[in-house]
Amino acid sequence: MQSLINPQLLKTKSYINGQWHNSQDKFEVLNPATNTMLAEVENATTDDLEIAIAAAKNALPSWSAKSANERASLMLKWFDLMMEHQSDLAKIITLEQGKPLAESTGEIGYGAAFIEWFAHEGKRAYGDIIPTPSSDKRVLVIKQPVGVVASVTPWNFPNAMITRKAAAALGAGCTFVSRPSEKTPLSALAMAHLADLAGIPDGVFNVVIGTDAIGMGKILTEHPDIAKFTFTGSTQVGKKLISQCASSVKKVSMELGGNAPFIVFNDADIDAAVEGAIASKYRNSGQTCVCSNRLFVHRDISEQFTQKLIQRVKLLKQGNGLDKETTLGPMIDERAIENVHNLVTQSIKMGATLLTGGKHSGNYYQATVLSNVTNDMPIAAQEIFGPVAPIIIFDDEDEVLRLANDTQYGLAAYCYTNNFGRVWRMSEKLEFGMVGINEGIISNPAAPFGGVKQSGTGREGSKYGLDDYMQIKYVCIGGI
Ligand code: SIN
Repeated sequence: MQSLINPQLLKTKSYINGQWHNSQDKFEVLNPATNTMLAEVENATTDDLEIAIAAAKNALPSWSAKSANERASLMLKWFDLMMEHQSDLAKIITLEQGKPLAESTGEIGYGAAFIEWFAHEGKRAYGDIIPTPSSDKRVLVIKQPVGVVASVTPWNFPNAMITRKAAAALGAGCTFVSRPSEKTPLSALAMAHLADLAGIPDGVFNVVIGTDAIGMGKILTEHPDIAKFTFTGSTQVGKKLISQCASSVKKVSMELGGNAPFIVFNDADIDAAVEGAIASKYRNSGQTCVCSNRLFVHRDISEQFTQKLIQRVKLLKQGNGLDKETTLGPMIDERAIENVHNLVTQSIKMGATLLTGGKHSGNYYQATVLSNVTNDMPIAAQEIFGPVAPIIIFDDEDEVLRLANDTQYGLAAYCYTNNFGRVWRMSEKLEFGMVGINEGIISNPAAPFGGVKQSGTGREGSKYGLDDYMQIKYVCIGGI
């Protein structure tokens, strides 16, 4: 492990009930930039997970009984510590996940901002008094924490995908058991160390690191003491987890796959659209659920847009994320490279044209642009999760809306236009949970992040994100 300013942030054991928990077995965490070992982490078992769930259950009464202000002051200490250690935390992300240091630094700011946001939002969990049909009764609505929350989170945002769930849970008064991806456990454990320093009480925030994804997923979705299960990952796995949650009727939030259209009309600012496409497509080497997956470009401007995009893509500097000049890091592993390459080669066989990129070496896949793509080619029909931009030409608004919506997914969509009426029409008719108009980066803690159709259910961030961790209780007062 590269030197950290504060070596205390490097933890290699699960954090359960405020303790660093010993496990017998160990596994290796790799640096995707070099495929070399970064650290050996203790491999928690499903028994260890049960201990964490019991700890979260035990901590629930006192944490939920605290006032929102008391919870907020502890959470804000946690936020301050994350920002104080931003550069070390960012380095840990780059080392275990691969993204360029500037993006990792951004992720820490983004991840920590959820803690700050929900520390305050917890104070605004307002109820209601509803006028009643009979004058001798009163109808009250109060919001209460749902209980123990369990999460399973992916490797693409090792910090922010945890905080945007955990912060909402803690702000609402719930306790939390996190099972992060075993590919990126170090960020989660560093966060746990800072939660500990901030004084978050034992058992309120637990991080269990283990390679038994299926066994742990089963417990977290079926355990009777867990009231809510929250997941970010693929639609395929999400469907299975939802069905497992059915046995104990858990509240679920699912942030699943996407197939984002990025639509550029002939009235758009083309330079802005190119910059938006670069940001939304190549961020994290294309490994985000909201990355644009299909670039729909109006025929009138397709040549101009494509040439400008290629010029801009060629300026991306691929390399180890620790190098300051790097703007495109490695992908997470060989399997990810293979998946992307299969989509590219199959689509070329079906008639797509390779304009730039298309080669790979180690875990690095070149920034790639394809033209002559149609919506039914694998590169457009499936979630790419890699640095490939497929360009599809369209002629009119109705056609592009039909094509854009022709997917099982409904997470994010992007549209570049300077026509005011079209801004409204597209915003309303795109069947996606989030729409960026003349903007390629839409995520922030104040906004409700989430999808429709098979991209999931529930919202993270914003005032709506807190509701996913609360239940509504109706109280009827009679005899007035
Ligand atoms: C994701 O890929 O699921 C998250 C991306 C984001 O928060 O912007």
